[in-house]
Amino acid sequence: MSNKSYSIAAEKPSDLSHIEQLLDDAFGLDRRIKTAYRLREGSQPVDGLSFVARLGDTLVGTIRFWPLRVAGRWSSLLLGPLAIQPDFRGYGCGIALMEKGLETASQLGHERVILVGDEPYYSRVGFVRAKQGMLSLPGPVDPNRVLYRELVDGAMNGVSGLVMSPVRSTALTEPGEAEQTQDGC
Ligand SMILES: CC(C)(COP(=O)(O)OP(=O)(O)OC[C@H]1O[C@@H](n2cnc3c(N)ncnc32)[C@H](O)[C@@H]1OP(=O)(O)O)[C@@H](O)C(=O)NCCC(=O)NCCS
Repeated sequence: MSNKSYSIAAEKPSDLSHIEQLLDDAFGLDRRIKTAYRLREGSQPVDGLSFVARLGDTLVGTIRFWPLRVAGRWSSLLLGPLAIQPDFRGYGCGIALMEKGLETASQLGHERVILVGDEPYYSRVGFVRAKQGMLSLPGPVDPNRVLYRELVDGAMNGVSGLVMSPVRSTALTEPGEAEQTQDGC
């Protein structure tokens, strides 16, 4: 099957239940306690940056981007969750969704993107591992899976600190609260 057989399109409200089912299947029912979900607390996906892959009318993939603040100072996007139906994996669908999202994010003037995920996969679209201690997250996370991509050259220069959703960024977490979550994309 070539990647011509699926199409990439903007997410529609009618896709929501299919996307939730796909995310449950891909990440498990306990996905909402993962650290990456703490980064989405109180936020909505960024308008114009939620895409799906369809085979005919069947939704086979999803990607979204969320707003972030680093050290309460720098804005960034959070990429994820990214998920493809198991039967449609390995055909370039995940890469195609990311390329569409990153290209559109760049057109919309966004400068940097952060994610929690497998470097060997995301390096295919230009993500690199954050240096030790550069970005800290509000929960336990494997530092090897904290990645970023600059959409503007130099956009990550000097950027470091606690990464949070804008809402939480203004209501800093209480000490000790972070322990309740798990690492995950
Ligand atoms: C990760 C995921 C989105 C990849 O989607 P996909 O459409 O199958 O991927 P693509 O077809 O774009 O890319 C396939 C290539 O990436 C590789 N790849 C896929 N997942 C990978 C991973 N987690 N780490 C390293 N390489 C990976 C495949 O081996 C394949 O390599 P090849 O081209 O050399 O054969 C999909 O496997 C998925 O939904 N997984 C479950 C949810 C998940 O874990 N998402 C986030 C990962 S951090």
